[in-house]
Amino acid sequence: MYEPHLVEHETNHINPAPQALNLRIRPSGAADRERLKACFGALSPESRRLRFFASKPNLNDAELDLFSNADGWDHIAVAAVRLDDQGRETETLGFARCIRLAPGGDCAEFSITVADAAHGQGIGTAMSRQLLELARAAGVRHLRFEVLAENTPMRKLALAIGGKPDWTGDGIVEYDCELLPSVNPHRSLPWFASPHRLLSAYVDLWLASLDRGLHAARTAQQGFAHWLDQVGGLDQDSPDA
Ligand SMILES: CC(C)(COP(=O)(O)OP(=O)(O)OC[C@H]1O[C@@H](n2cnc3c(N)ncnc32)[C@H](O)[C@@H]1OP(=O)(O)O)[C@@H](O)C(=O)NCCC(=O)NCCS
Repeated sequence: MYEPHLVEHETNHINPAPQALNLRIRPSGAADRERLKACFGALSPESRRLRFFASKPNLNDAELDLFSNADGWDHIAVAAVRLDDQGRETETLGFARCIRLAPGGDCAEFSITVADAAHGQGIGTAMSRQLLELARAAGVRHLRFEVLAENTPMRKLALAIGGKPDWTGDGIVEYDCELLPSVNPHRSLPWFASPHRLLSAYVDLWLASLDRGLHAARTAQQGFAHWLDQVGGLDQDSPDA
């Protein structure tokens, strides 16, 4: 079940740049269909071309269905939405998404669009970072995407999120962004598999077996001393002594 409220963040927790915009970056799903339509409708022809690598006058119904079909697992999406003074959502400023190449697979295709009037204010970077966290948590290990070589802002953004470029030579740069599993053991491992607990359990076992060994050695030494006493006593009692 996709539960957007669990992963919602205000921008002041993400990136200092968009703070002044009073912005929320949150997961996006079916309820954002109209927002998607309005956001795309407001894009300049140039931004549409940079996003789709071709002239793109509108999104058809099938594309709207696809883009508003995020389930938080095979298709993960976030939206950047401006808030009014009461904290209510107003204008949509962008979307970022990744869709797994195969259901449940560890490789997903990444894409992003920010409204023209909001470019250059850190919104693309902030959305990408939040999307990466959600994707990483869902087990995605590689984000792949293509960028037109002339798209300088997107190439900078790609580098900022750890994308490794591969210049294909035909005006397109392919990126692979590896998402390593979280290194925080409290987030990535069950309590009994935490390295700290495993190590301390191992040390406890080792100390307990050392203690048992010392105890056995002490008992054997006492038994030997007792035996020597007995043997010595017998020798003294013997008629030959
Ligand atoms: C690419 C895009 C998503 C970036 O969004 P954004 O909110 O403007 O990005 P940010 O403000 O976070 O900036 C990202 C980087 O681009 C740089 N940048 C932004 N606008 C720039 C411009 N006009 N010229 C040069 N660099 C620019 C920023 O300085 C930043 O780089 P830095 O981290 O080295 O400082 C946005 O430009 C867009 O929607 N473009 C049209 C659609 C598109 O190209 N999508 C990607 C398809 S692959």
